[in-house]
Amino acid sequence: MNKAVDKDVIDSLLDDDIEYQGNNPTDNRPFYDILKSEMERRDVLKGSLASAATGFFAASGIAASTGAQAQTSSLMNFTPVSLADAEAGDGKQPLVSPDYDMQVLIPWGDPIEPSGPAYKEHGNTSQEQANQVGIGHDGMWFFPLAEDLEPDPSLPVINDFLRRWFNVNTRGLMCINHEFGNNFQVLGKEAPESLEDVRISQHAHGVSVIQIEQIDGVWQPVDSQFARRIHVNTPVEYSGPAAGHPLLQTPAGNIPLGTVNNCGNGTTPWGTYLTCEENFNAYFGATNTESTWVPTALQERFGFAEGGTFGNYQWWVWDKRFDLSDPDFTNEENRFGWMVEIDPQDANNAPIKRTAMGRFKHEGAAWTVGDDGRIAFYMGDDERFDYLYKYVSAEPYQQMLAAGVSPLDEGTLYVAQFSEGGVGEWIELSLNNATLASMYTDMGELLVNTRLAADAVGATPMDRPEWTATTSATNGTCYVTLTNNSRRTEANAANPLVPNADGHIIRFTDDTPSGTAFSWEIFLIAEDTHGTEESFSDPDGLGIDFQGRVWIETDGGQKDGLQDQLLIADPDTKEIRRLFMGVNGDEITGIAFTPNRRTAFINVQHPGNGDPTATNFPAATDNVTVPRDCTVALSRKDGGVVGS
Ligand code: FEO
Ligand code: CA
Ligand code: CA
Ligand code: CA
Repeated sequence: MNKAVDKDVIDSLLDDDIEYQGNNPTDNRPFYDILKSEMERRDVLKGSLASAATGFFAASGIAASTGAQAQTSSLMNFTPVSLADAEAGDGKQPLVSPDYDMQVLIPWGDPIEPSGPAYKEHGNTSQEQANQVGIGHDGMWFFPLAEDLEPDPSLPVINDFLRRWFNVNTRGLMCINHEFGNNFQVLGKEAPESLEDVRISQHAHGVSVIQIEQIDGVWQPVDSQFARRIHVNTPVEYSGPAAGHPLLQTPAGNIPLGTVNNCGNGTTPWGTYLTCEENFNAYFGATNTESTWVPTALQERFGFAEGGTFGNYQWWVWDKRFDLSDPDFTNEENRFGWMVEIDPQDANNAPIKRTAMGRFKHEGAAWTVGDDGRIAFYMGDDERFDYLYKYVSAEPYQQMLAAGVSPLDEGTLYVAQFSEGGVGEWIELSLNNATLASMYTDMGELLVNTRLAADAVGATPMDRPEWTATTSATNGTCYVTLTNNSRRTEANAANPLVPNADGHIIRFTDDTPSGTAFSWEIFLIAEDTHGTEESFSDPDGLGIDFQGRVWIETDGGQKDGLQDQLLIADPDTKEIRRLFMGVNGDEITGIAFTPNRRTAFINVQHPGNGDPTATNFPAATDNVTVPRDCTVALSRKDGGVVGS
């Protein structure tokens, strides 16, 4: 295949305005569907060039694979960051493909609006941090402003929103997770010494909504009515079966506040952002001053401990809400571990914890819609031997939206059981299951106890399911990263490595997204790449672009002299190329694109783990400046599609 022709076709498809071709405005097809059908139409129009675009649709099943492709991918023509490049560096600054430009934006501590409080290294108050970018940049998504979408009144709003965003590429709302930041980096000390220290730490966690614009070629935050910080002390709401449940009430009667350890993310086809609460147990501990704390079975299942877990956060010493031994705050921890929906277009809207989607250490929420109109979300639970989940809306999601019901409130939660022979089954987690009906009196109780419910029905213990990504908005194949599992001593069909030091990636396809049968295969095993230019370990962040490329981000000790990295993989040939390599001690995570795919955003998380002698990124190397988590915008020097 001629790469130049292929690229020209892709560029021409993406450059042109996407005009709505549907003849039935009540047929609210998701955006990807619309884009897909538009591209298919253009394929036909382009006649002989159409075959050059085959690779476009290979992963989404729109066109059959050519079957005779060379091993060299037609989807990538950039020069990778090589092992030699990595070896030549000192890990203090990132490396990017010579075919790409990179630009840093929104580092931790910068104001979310230019008019906000300036960053002072270890000198900002908690009040200032509440108006500054948080730390631990992780999952994120770029949303065009609704006001840029020029809605067509003849179309339903949701349809129009999804259709028109394709032309909005130089400004938008970045929703970004702030997973965590250690005390050393955030406070400049090993542990908090006051409630004010704890508040600084709490306000550095959560989510930011930041309006960014590309001005004179530079991405930067601008003042905006939509800019806001959501942190550990922001009022939140609950919906779904566990909302209002006694297990979410405390004796103190304190209102629900906050989201924490926001790691992976998702989006919805109705234009909202999903943030995943992961290792929430780390922030709770027990002072044992008012009573002696003994963990319940559920608390044990999540790993709550008297002295916290990682990070030495010690919030519980200064903020009773996080003290497991304070009887006034019994059940406070049940308010975390949920999927949280945020409307980026309304800064006054409280984040909503969607309890129907289960309570675990959430990672990722990739969706696809079945022919019956019901939407399925695929979600990992990142812990050794934990599970892969699916949530399916009760009715066609557009009907539910039209009726004023959130598709995330009424639906069914499933957990995956993988079997030999590349088949599997989704097991329903509800009172329809006799075992679960004997354990729980109502769905609210079951959902708070999601992990224990899944234990009881024979779910397959996985090697730390992290992100999910789907190939298509309709009947898509889902990829899931299994980051590693150093403790595995017994293999199962889907987790064959004992131990699994470096992780693998599985892909699976439901017979129908709302059904219970699926087929699966292992896509890549990280260990197989070691000693080659494709070397990677510990896959974590994951994305699939419109052309089918698989974006893989890593979090863990890389082999062959590498730092954590971003790689692009071809879904058919499985060729892998390294697009970006981070700095000492960091993790590369978060994937977002401008709609025209000319800019990709990724995150450099915990560079140097906060140690200035490891790296000072994004500052120039001086061995003194505290490194800061930040977003990096990547673009091709030739203006082409990112990832190509
Ligand atoms: Fe926060 Fe599972 O990585
Ligand atoms: Ca992370
Ligand atoms: Ca992760
Ligand atoms: Ca991870």
